[in-house]
Amino acid sequence: MQIISTVAELRQRLHGETSIAFVPTMGNLHEGHLDLVRIAREQGQCTKGTQSANQQAGCGVGCVVVSIFVNPLQFGVNEDFSRYPRTLEQDSKLLAQCGADVLFTPSEHDLYPQPQQIMVELPPIANELCGAFRPGHFRGMATVVLKLFNIVQPHLAVFGKKDYQQLHIVRQMAAQLNLPLEIIGGETVRASDGLALSSRNQYLNAAERTEAAFLYQTLLQMRQQLLNKEKDLASLEKTATEVLSARGWRVDYVTIRAQADLAEPQAGQHKLVVLAAAWLGKTRLIDNLEVGLGQ
Ligand code: PAF
Repeated sequence: MQIISTVAELRQRLHGETSIAFVPTMGNLHEGHLDLVRIAREQGQCTKGTQSANQQAGCGVGCVVVSIFVNPLQFGVNEDFSRYPRTLEQDSKLLAQCGADVLFTPSEHDLYPQPQQIMVELPPIANELCGAFRPGHFRGMATVVLKLFNIVQPHLAVFGKKDYQQLHIVRQMAAQLNLPLEIIGGETVRASDGLALSSRNQYLNAAERTEAAFLYQTLLQMRQQLLNKEKDLASLEKTATEVLSARGWRVDYVTIRAQADLAEPQAGQHKLVVLAAAWLGKTRLIDNLEVGLGQ
């Protein structure tokens, strides 16, 4: 695996590649990220490890690019930008084992040589859910993702479903700006007690880590109630918020939305998603669960 840290070198390295699969990350990689890299490798056709082996196997030429960049533009002033874990050495070993071809680690100066004044303007959904609690977050995220897409020029890009709203916004951006790539969503990877893997889990102390699994339990219970044909969504959301609060969580939101547009579900909509964001101490956790209701 090659590690490349400038835009110019990366462009040179990728020149002539006919199939590029891309996984953008902020590093501190865990099994959830590695799963996205595996999806990129499978979907990107480059399944045999080296390009020559791929060519021999008739898989076509492919290249899996992973970026690690902690993007200041998507952090609010009081958020964890400076303490966000940076573990490049460990990350690069994991990526090499996982079969990434190129690790792109741009510096802040390389990605933002001048103050970024041109930003992606997003639809109102970017100001709801997490966007309501993290003003400007999705604008900063979409702007860096678009920059990375323009630099890497991938044929496909893989994002985790754990960041459900992010995935939705990136899909919308790709569709509405006619970006020539496919966006793939990777399933959330969970610890054995159900907690969705996240780089921020390491902020939790031992007691918080034990309690953290309850967020997923809450989503599971809500899904079961929806499957049991409970129609009063507001009451499900209110009960879940009260139960979490009583256990010491500070709830930003627990809500049931339509998968397609993250809007409040219309009667008869079958593909729903339960989304939650809540704080345990100083750590904000997010999670979600898709629900498919029978016809
Ligand atoms: O999900 C993340 O890690 C980040 O939001 C992303 C997509 C790498 C953009 O900085």
